[in-house]
This record gives sequence, structure tokens and C-alpha cells, in this order.
Amino acid sequence: MKNIGIFYGSSTGNTELVADKLQALFGEENADVHNIDSVEIEDINQYKYLILGTSTWGIGDMQDDWEEFESSLKKVDFEHKKVALYGLGDQEVYADSFVDGMGKLYKVLSKKAKIVGRCSTEGYRHRQSMAVENKEFVGLAIDYDNEPKLMDTQIIRWVEQLKKEFK
Ligand SMILES: Cc1cc2nc3c(=O)[nH]c(=O)nc-3n(C[C@H](O)[C@H](O)[C@H](O)COP(=O)(O)O)c2cc1C
Repeated sequence: MKNIGIFYGSSTGNTELVADKLQALFGEENADVHNIDSVEIEDINQYKYLILGTSTWGIGDMQDDWEEFESSLKKVDFEHKKVALYGLGDQEVYADSFVDGMGKLYKVLSKKAKIVGRCSTEGYRHRQSMAVENKEFVGLAIDYDNEPKLMDTQIIRWVEQLKKEFK
């Protein structure tokens, strides 16, 4: 059985692209990818390690499909699970709500789940983000709109970090 479930919500494909890259790095034999728009609670329950990805829409909202799934997410039993978050956003146009969607997802989960995969805010130019706690991002923040070339390196580094923290 695969240990890692990657669940993403994506409106224009960017967060989905990252989910596929994550799966490739962990190996298809270890990780499944699911679009959160067609998921049941049981689909989440089967994995020990979860990677949850959302983009940010509106001003600081979680991606629509995650908003719809939020009440179900609250019913998942996160005991014995480790959860890593990633968020897609635009730090230039939305400098005051950069990857807030990831911050909102974190707020839903932080008291229930063991969250791993925090990342430094160094090198980012945003002003404010709900996804920052104790001067760190609560997961991996990706600005594909402005810095597409950085993405692969960020993902590779994060997967190496998760391989240690998922132990
Ligand atoms: C109307 C609109 C609102 C957005 N709002 C935010 C925002 O508040 N914060 C942010 O970081 N990015 C924001 N973004 C940027 C998206 O999150 C970004 O383009 C992301 O890569 C989209 O990913 P997806 O295709 O997986 O949905 C917004 C983009 C649009 C077009």
C-alpha cells in the first residue's frame, strides 16, 4: 500500500502541476495524487503521510474546491498522520495575502495534525502572509506566476526535507 497521499485543489493547473512533480520525486510506487474536487474522507484516511496543496484566490481565500471540502476535512482523524502543506500564490500582485490559502488550511489542521515541512521565508518579497508562523512558512510557498524557474529546485529541496520529516 502506498504511504503518501497528495491532495490538491487547483483552478488553472499550477497546484496540480506541483502535485505531479511531487509524486514523480517520491515515486509512483509510494505516492498517489488526488484532486480534492472528487475525494471522500475515506480516500484521505488510508494514508499515513499527507501532502495537501492549495492555491489562493479572491483576496486570501483557499482554492474553491478546498473551501467546499473544508467541513469534511474537519472530520478526518489525523492521529498517527503527518501532514505537509504547500501553497501556490503571487507575491507581487497579492503581496499582502501571499499564499494565505495555505495559511487557512493550516488553521483548520494545526490543532489536530502533526504538521511538517516548514520552510524559511528568506528570498520572498511579500509583505504579509497568513501562512507565516514564527517567521517561517507553515509549508512550501511557490510563486509560479513570477518565479517559475525557481520551482523545481524548491520542490526537490522540500522533498528531501519531507523524506526525513516523514520518518
Ligand atoms: C483573481 C485572482 C486572485 C488571486 N488571489 C491571490 C491571493 O490573494 N494571494 C496569492 O498569493 N495569490 C493569489 N492569486 C494567484 C494564484 O494563487 C496563482 O496564480 C496560483 O498559481 C494559481 O494556482 P492554481 O492554478 O493551481 O489555482 C490570485 C490570482 C487571481 C487570478
